[in-house]
Amino acid sequence: MNAAIRAVVRQADALGHEAWGIYRGYQGLLEGDLSPLPSRACANILQRGGTILQTARCPDFYNPALRATAADNLRAAGIEALVVIGGDGSFRAAEVFQREQGVACAGIPGTIDNDLPGTERTLGFDTALNTAVEAIDRIRDTASSHGRLFLVEVMGRSSGMLAVHTALACGAEAVLYPESPDDSYENLVSRLNANWLRGKRSSIVVVAEGDIVGRAMAVGERLKRDHDLDLRVVVLGHIQRGGSPSAMDRIWGSRWGCEAVRRLDRGERGFYLGEVAGALVAQPLSRILEAQPLPPGDLGALISVLAR
Ligand code: F6P
Repeated sequence: MNAAIRAVVRQADALGHEAWGIYRGYQGLLEGDLSPLPSRACANILQRGGTILQTARCPDFYNPALRATAADNLRAAGIEALVVIGGDGSFRAAEVFQREQGVACAGIPGTIDNDLPGTERTLGFDTALNTAVEAIDRIRDTASSHGRLFLVEVMGRSSGMLAVHTALACGAEAVLYPESPDDSYENLVSRLNANWLRGKRSSIVVVAEGDIVGRAMAVGERLKRDHDLDLRVVVLGHIQRGGSPSAMDRIWGSRWGCEAVRRLDRGERGFYLGEVAGALVAQPLSRILEAQPLPPGDLGALISVLAR
């Protein structure tokens, strides 16, 4: 996200505009917590995780009267356009905000969940994926040395995108995620059983939190009860959301930040950016109302073949 902030600020500067930073997302916008963000304030942030502008969940933005206050705060500061870096909730809010308050909005996808329609990439996903894979590689050492089963829960909210990619990249024996046709306890038991019969004495199962944080723990308890297994459960949690961003996240944050400002400068509004088949794309903000994309089905199938 810092790569995107830096690019927005510096591209705006290059085009003769002044950039302002809004702190804590929509919450800061409601409270008037905004100030000019000069180019120099963005020095040495490209390699930093999190966001220098901080962020917040903001249920107050559901309130139309408070959205009007937010628009007033922007106008009072002479701000003509808003670049929103965020996920599904942030873009839905931007879509309403522009339609209702007439504020020109542009979106840059930023969420480790990679669950937005119209883009194959969101900022943070690649970094979180690599972090999860590195963590599981370490867990694998204990799994194989002790001949143990590990259930590793990864984030992703209601999307299995992070779980499936993590499972494939770390050679997991199985993956549980909400969109999978095989996402059942019984199916997992029969997969583990088949692996045991093939001589596998340790396994890693990646579990998508799937809107129920702690799902891996519940599955683990049931497996222990039913099969008396020496298993362990690891919840990776917010480890996945921090740390220095990957090169690809920095590159796309930079590209999208510049592109958002160039389009706004040309008078475009009400769009969000994305990546499809390697190309930078833009689509109307209203596309955010479409269904979230499914994890590629072929990846799930590959995982079972490769776990043999
Ligand atoms: O949407 C990003 C995300 O990291 C999800 O993967 C996760 O379920 C959620 O945010 C965690 O949110 P919080 O930090 O508020 O607990």
